[in-house]
Amino acid sequence: MNVYEAIAARRDVRNEFTGNVLSEDQLHRVLSAAHAAPSVGNTQPWDFVVVQDRDILRRFAAHVAERREAFARSLPSDRADTFRPIVVEGIESSGTGVVVTYDPARGGRHILGRHTIDETGRLSVGLAIQNLWLAATAEGLGVGWVSFYTESFLHELIGIPDGIEVVAWLCLGPVTELQAVPDLERFGWRDRRSFDDVVHRESFGAS
Ligand SMILES: Cc1cc2nc3c(=O)[nH]c(=O)nc-3n(C[C@H](O)[C@H](O)[C@H](O)COP(=O)(O)O)c2cc1C
Repeated sequence: MNVYEAIAARRDVRNEFTGNVLSEDQLHRVLSAAHAAPSVGNTQPWDFVVVQDRDILRRFAAHVAERREAFARSLPSDRADTFRPIVVEGIESSGTGVVVTYDPARGGRHILGRHTIDETGRLSVGLAIQNLWLAATAEGLGVGWVSFYTESFLHELIGIPDGIEVVAWLCLGPVTELQAVPDLERFGWRDRRSFDDVVHRESFGAS
């Protein structure tokens, strides 16, 4: 699979995990791909906590179910109806969680490139996640990003030190298939914007 094929095939997965756990070799390859990402000042501000303990997965899934319910309750009734059938996680069925964290102190005080734009640190972690996602796709695996959690809960659950931020919980595992169309489009939540809408020439207002 070349990079364009991986980009086209990549999907956020919730329902298609097989229930089996990926191999250690696959895990090593996708985490190596993540760790090969570019980063501001070459700080590599990420860490990856691999969670496969069934009890921890179950406790995290229960927390996410509560947060999903709170979001559902916050919606106006028409959006709540659209949201109801949408599954937002495959925490237990994937068999593996990869918690991706950001250490803003990594690299010390004088970070080349983060001097004026602090956000470049967190963006670097996002690039590591995208590397992981594409590598997993090339491996025939699925990834599902879960952000329905409170940070303090996750800090406590897996012992993340103060000062380190959680960026993502990624469900990672073998899949039966990758959907051709994102779930949020299939269920009518939100469509992908057209290419012409997002590309501008010379000024932001121009099409
Ligand atoms: C920062 C971020 C947070 C996300 N959080 C969730 C989440 O909590 N639950 C979920 O089901 N999908 C989550 N997603 C997946 C998006 O819903 C998905 O990427 C989007 O609908 C497009 O679908 P696709 O990735 O299959 O192209 C998240 C994606 C990103 C980038």
